[in-house]
Amino acid sequence: MDRNENVIEVHHVSKLYGLNKTEAVRLMEAGSQKKEVQKKTGVSVALWDINLEIPRGQIFVIIGLSGSGKSTLVRCFNRLNKPTSGSVCFNGRDLSKLSKKELLTFRRNNISMVFQSFGLMSHRDVLGNVAYGLEVKGVSKAEREKKAMEVISMVGLSGWEHQSCKNLSGGMRQRVGIARALANDPDVLLMDEPFSALDPLVRQDMQFELLQIQRKLKKTVIFITHDIDEAFKLGDTVAIMKDGKLVQVDTPEQMSEHPANEYVEAFINNADKSHVLCVHNIMITPKALIQTDDGPEHAIRVMNKNELSTVYVVDKDLHLAGVLTINDALRARKEHLLITDIMEKEIPVVDTDTLVADIMALAASAHYPIAAVGKDGQLKGIVTKAKVLSSLA
Ligand SMILES: Nc1ncnc2c1ncn2[C@@H]1O[C@H](COP(=O)(O)OP(=O)(O)OP(=O)(O)O)[C@@H](O)[C@H]1O
Ligand SMILES: [Mg+2]
Repeated sequence: MDRNENVIEVHHVSKLYGLNKTEAVRLMEAGSQKKEVQKKTGVSVALWDINLEIPRGQIFVIIGLSGSGKSTLVRCFNRLNKPTSGSVCFNGRDLSKLSKKELLTFRRNNISMVFQSFGLMSHRDVLGNVAYGLEVKGVSKAEREKKAMEVISMVGLSGWEHQSCKNLSGGMRQRVGIARALANDPDVLLMDEPFSALDPLVRQDMQFELLQIQRKLKKTVIFITHDIDEAFKLGDTVAIMKDGKLVQVDTPEQMSEHPANEYVEAFINNADKSHVLCVHNIMITPKALIQTDDGPEHAIRVMNKNELSTVYVVDKDLHLAGVLTINDALRARKEHLLITDIMEKEIPVVDTDTLVADIMALAASAHYPIAAVGKDGQLKGIVTKAKVLSSLA
């Protein structure tokens, strides 16, 4: 297999829908706009003269307004769509040259797709869904279940293997979708708006986890979104589309600094406005909590198990009482103290409605995640330094 730098290369790809394509092409070549062509010929120009290289091992994001051609383009990558003209090469092979059988093998082995709508089989449990692709390939039961368990754990679903997918939340279903795609160990993961149906908090967690998984496995991920925040957060490279054409392909930094035109600028500025994130948009659920009447032994165990060096302490109504470090817990055990005697009680807390911009300084100097507390004094979540800093991309 060709192991060159680019996993996918797109050469002059156009995709037109409709009968009078010859006339539509003539008009496009003469410089007409998609809308005009549609009106005059009834032909929809979904893609026009796309040239693109997708480097191996990156998260490559494709962004654009609805109808700009994003889905049409990525469907050319697994040949669910056949370009009207132009070619797509995958690992150096022209996809149009593959026989039916080769195409089938290619789809099974080299590329997997994750959809917004999950597309899970509801009569199968989590394990059955994740192992499905391997089952189709004829991998033995023991081997496919071993692999499936491995990726299930990677997406944080250990313990849920035998649950029916019906019982899962949206975020968890999408974890199954990702695990299923990863189980095949493809070269490329195509993700068409995978997180758009999820609520903002879950969505943030999923973005973070996708980043972690990608950094670990170094898979090429092609990720479609409407959301520039998501694009900039995830993308090593971002491609922006308009009316079936590529407008700019760049790193988020370059794109912010040198937008190719007003369309790109408008996209980015719009993102800036929406960047009025509050703490509740970026906080996460603490991995572990301990209660005021727990003993130091228990606190130590909880911290060990979750690999934490500090843990928040709450009363039985979830009101924040303090924070306990592992050193304090060890000392409490040795000296037979109560954790409430030894924990730090004077801790910075932020209201969940605080603007992220207003906690930058606090986050930068904090030694542990900041506690986010509701009006009722209950602990609602924690905010890590990394989330605060990365949320202002
Ligand atoms: N099967 C089809 N028949 C006719 N026109 C189509 C077909 N599929 C897509 N199109 C047209 O191609 C253009 C691009 O559609 P596409 O679905 O790729 O856009 P998109 O960027 O993915 O949009 P969205 O963000 O809404 O998913 C649109 O104008 C659409 O109407
Ligand atoms: Mg689409």
